[in-house]
Amino acid sequence: MLRQLRSFSSTSASLKNLKIGLIPGDGIGREVIPAGKAILENLPSKFGLNFEFVNLDAGFELFQKTGTALPDETVKVLKEECDGALFGAVSSPTTKVAGYSSPIVALRKKMGLYANVRPVKSVEGIGRPVDMVIVRENTEDLYIKEEKTYKAEDGTRVAEAIKRITESATTRIAKMAYDIALKRQSIRGTVQSLHSVPSVTVTHKSNVLSQSDGLFREVCKAVYEANPEEYNGIEYKEQIVDSMVYRMFREPEIFDVVVAPNLYGDILSDGAAALVGSLGVVPSANVGDNFAIGEPCHGSAPDIEGKGISNPIATIRSTALMLEFMGYSEPAAVIYEAVDANLAEDKIKTPDLGGNSSTNEVIEDIVRRLN
Ligand code: NAI
Ligand code: MG
Repeated sequence: MLRQLRSFSSTSASLKNLKIGLIPGDGIGREVIPAGKAILENLPSKFGLNFEFVNLDAGFELFQKTGTALPDETVKVLKEECDGALFGAVSSPTTKVAGYSSPIVALRKKMGLYANVRPVKSVEGIGRPVDMVIVRENTEDLYIKEEKTYKAEDGTRVAEAIKRITESATTRIAKMAYDIALKRQSIRGTVQSLHSVPSVTVTHKSNVLSQSDGLFREVCKAVYEANPEEYNGIEYKEQIVDSMVYRMFREPEIFDVVVAPNLYGDILSDGAAALVGSLGVVPSANVGDNFAIGEPCHGSAPDIEGKGISNPIATIRSTALMLEFMGYSEPAAVIYEAVDANLAEDKIKTPDLGGNSSTNEVIEDIVRRLN
């Protein structure tokens, strides 16, 4: 039905064909991924994009049925056939289940998606004004899980974890942060923004961890300074992570792009999501050098599954984000605009935002606004 709202020829020679992997996963992942598909199918024909979709399996329910959470076939199709992908959500068992580990974590590793990019933008009239993007390093820091427990001389236990920061991983995440600051600027012609000048805030704790976080800070700064022409328009800032948390809640409007090592990035990005009203509107993308997977930040939400009221906006924004990383910022801007217009009108909203509309009604309203 959504498809009929806008029609375009799929036979024109000038159309660019793109294949998108759809990985709904568990729970409301299956309700929101169709939103991303509907948006892509109904993008204005002026962009000349034609989408083909391939449904791919992953998730805890799949694991319960087949013993595999992430089939090799899913990774193979993504690598060999797809130009981009959307991932819904997966459920995690509350107690350890032998043989199960999160398919999205495995997918990030197998696809080389070293950055987790999470834009947090406020909903008109809800919470504080905020328009920031957290760029989290996704492969190292304390999350390499090199931990051990041993006995001290007095017989009590000691646990240790390695925090590893490398120059190479920091260089690529810093570059990504500066590039995003510039890319966002190019979208700003059409999308309302809080920031007239792009900035990147490097978050660290190098006053205490002078070697590890010291290296992170030093490399981020060096990457900036080594590219004066390219990064000319970007303001470089630094913030120690504890005061970053304080300032992010006191004056979130001042932050544009924030780059952080894995652990701080994880904490900051969930904290920032609390600033904007509902998990149902916060998107993310898992990004590498050649591939991006859009993923709503929320989980599988078993409490609302099957009721038809999941907010599709996080997925719709994740779809735009995926397009941005695929190099299509113009259609991405049109999607962001359509979402902002839906939110600004304050009429067709799902219950998490205080409305009483269904998932499909919100999708249809946003599709109608794509132009
Ligand atoms: P959750 O994000 O699924 O839900 C938290 C709360 O937000 C619930 O009240 C839910 O109804 C609401 N909510 C989430 N998304 C929404 C949407 N689109 N529209 C309206 N309301 C929405 O987190 P929870 O409950 O802690 O976890 C449920 C399951 O999801 C667990 O198995 C957990 O492990 C998994 N999970 C998976 C993630 C992923 O796939 N990346 C991330 C977070 C949790
Ligand atoms: Mg987290």
